[in-house]
Amino acid sequence: MSYTADVLSSFAIEYHHATAHGVLTAVRIPDSPEPVPSAVVDRLPHGEAEFARTLRGYRQVQFVGGRIALRRACEQIGLTAPDILPNARGAPSLPEGFVGSISHKRTIAVGMVARDTEGTLGVDVEDYEPMRPSIEKAVLTDEERRSLPDEDTTRRWIATIMRFSIKEAIYKALDPYVERYVGFHEAHVTPDLHGHAAVQLHLAKGEGPFCVDARYVWLHGRLLTSVRIRPD
Ligand SMILES: CC(C)(COP(=O)(O)OP(=O)(O)OC[C@H]1O[C@@H](n2cnc3c(N)ncnc32)[C@H](O)[C@@H]1OP(=O)(O)O)[C@@H](O)C(=O)NCCC(=O)NCCS
Repeated sequence: MSYTADVLSSFAIEYHHATAHGVLTAVRIPDSPEPVPSAVVDRLPHGEAEFARTLRGYRQVQFVGGRIALRRACEQIGLTAPDILPNARGAPSLPEGFVGSISHKRTIAVGMVARDTEGTLGVDVEDYEPMRPSIEKAVLTDEERRSLPDEDTTRRWIATIMRFSIKEAIYKALDPYVERYVGFHEAHVTPDLHGHAAVQLHLAKGEGPFCVDARYVWLHGRLLTSVRIRPD
């Protein structure tokens, strides 16, 4: 099978980005369930490549894109990581002393890495469009919904997706401490206008307390959120 330059260049770096939460690399991925070319899979270390070959369709594309992104982010901080395989709960296993997180959307995969001194890390990337206002009830608490602007559909959607994305990042950063499914109604998120969000956790099993630092940025037309969590 031959691949066009288009498909191969799909796994190229789109950008690097450094924040107070860590260093992030974004990689373009093809919007296609076609098997990832061997030339791309073989860029991963042996164990990751072997794992990637067990996956199919979009799942394989996303896994490879996410691993390339995270690995390039690791290089930015001078870390040459051995195989970064999924742990039993699906999270990427970073070497001792580091934390990392991955997110992917239709045409992009991002990986963020940092030292573990400020606790665990979660990252999420979201496309702004298409707007999906129907997710609102499932992902926001009644109190959060009451705080949304109700006069303007676009503003309401932006307020919704910011909270949704931060919650997904919270989930990833919280998972190492709680090791269970955490529902969307177990966190109350209030973004400010300056790239931060206040987070109150109402964990159903009473875990914690935790100190949560949540941030967001609109970068290259997408929403990027990250969260650091440490025991308080
Ligand atoms: C786990 C979850 C957050 C992943 O989000 P998603 O929208 O499916 O997909 P994303 O592309 O953003 O993230 C996928 C990556 O999450 C990471 N991930 C999966 N399970 C994870 C876990 N338990 N802990 C940390 N990271 C995890 C993986 O790196 C995965 O990519 P990979 O398999 O290629 O390595 C999501 O599936 C989920 O269950 N959400 C509902 C729960 C929730 O968000 N609650 C809010 C609590 S306040």
